[in-house]
Amino acid sequence: MVTSNVVEFAGKVRMPRLGMGTMALSIEGRPDRATAIGTIHAALDAGVRYLDTAWSYYLPSEPGPDGTGVPRDFGYGEMLVHAALASWSGPRDEVLVATKTGYRRTLEVTNRDAEDPQQSPGDGASASASASERQHLQAAGSRYGWMADSRPETMIRDAKESALRLGVDALDLLYSHGPDPAVPYEDTVGALKTLLDEGVIRFAGVSRVDNAQIDTARGILGDRLIAVQNQFSPSHPDPEHTMGHCADLGLDFVCWSPLGGFLDAFDSHAYDPFRTVAAARGVSYQRVVLAWELTRYDRLFTIPSARNPHEVRDSFAAVNLTLAPEELSLLP
Ligand SMILES: NC(=O)c1ccc[n+]([C@@H]2O[C@H](COP(=O)([O-])OP(=O)(O)OC[C@H]3O[C@@H](n4cnc5c(N)ncnc54)[C@H](OP(=O)(O)O)[C@@H]3O)[C@@H](O)[C@H]2O)c1
Repeated sequence: MVTSNVVEFAGKVRMPRLGMGTMALSIEGRPDRATAIGTIHAALDAGVRYLDTAWSYYLPSEPGPDGTGVPRDFGYGEMLVHAALASWSGPRDEVLVATKTGYRRTLEVTNRDAEDPQQSPGDGASASASASERQHLQAAGSRYGWMADSRPETMIRDAKESALRLGVDALDLLYSHGPDPAVPYEDTVGALKTLLDEGVIRFAGVSRVDNAQIDTARGILGDRLIAVQNQFSPSHPDPEHTMGHCADLGLDFVCWSPLGGFLDAFDSHAYDPFRTVAAARGVSYQRVVLAWELTRYDRLFTIPSARNPHEVRDSFAAVNLTLAPEELSLLP
């Protein structure tokens, strides 16, 4: 049973379970930097205390030697979060910043590179990790893709860069962004353990994982693994029940793309019942979706993106939207 929308998380005293994803402020379709910072400020002023970013929230300006951009591109999203927090007048200590390592952005030229067995997938690539083995995700029509690179040496190096870019001695919470088909998952999680042992990160999380991978991470990290970030929304309903597995293990579940996302097409009809409830309430259907997600599990965090202050304020109001039993009965 869901008891509160405000809970303890990752060493922070108490925070709302509705945070903010900053991906849409950092990648394709991103607004100008001033608007992005204003949007993060609007979220913090509304009460958001969880900001989600990633090493890979940037856009390559040119392919670079491995197709993933050049150093001046890297860290855009993390530096944006740092700048927003540095210029915010509120209580910085209350804010949890979570970031992720293990992914890169690519330009479409990487698809050709991936077919070239002479091409290395990145600096210091191990012989066992060829680009063609790596997961490559690309939204339809986008020039940019995503490529996993979760080798331990990459994870460790990137996490230290993330701490520098975020201007902190230790990262509050670092997720493995996702499994890398070219790297045993135990090795990727082992990098998180090294980072915990060295004090580079305070808490660890894993993302884009199935139940077996959650168990692997739990076995290696113990109670220093606190969160799983998986896709969950009305259009992506967690078929493997990883949320239930998190509940069994006492892990926080953080839903990514909680409104269906903004890059890939999704089944819009999955939101029709939410539109019905929202119309009767006179609020946005997105607010109803987020309020419904908060009812799914009492350790669920939802982290919608927004590209302007209006949307982020509208979404955050879901924290105070209590859905009645008759409304919930209309929803999945
Ligand atoms: N771990 C992972 O691999 C992973 C993957 C994806 C995302 N994420 C995380 O999840 C976060 C959220 O996911 P997401 O960015 O994919 O998409 P999302 O939160 O599902 O959808 C965001 C989009 O919904 C629209 N929106 C948001 N609030 C609204 C409101 N109140 N009213 C009307 N429209 C609203 C906006 O679109 P418009 O701007 O077009 O209006 C916004 O860009 C990301 O920022 C990121 O931190 C993690």
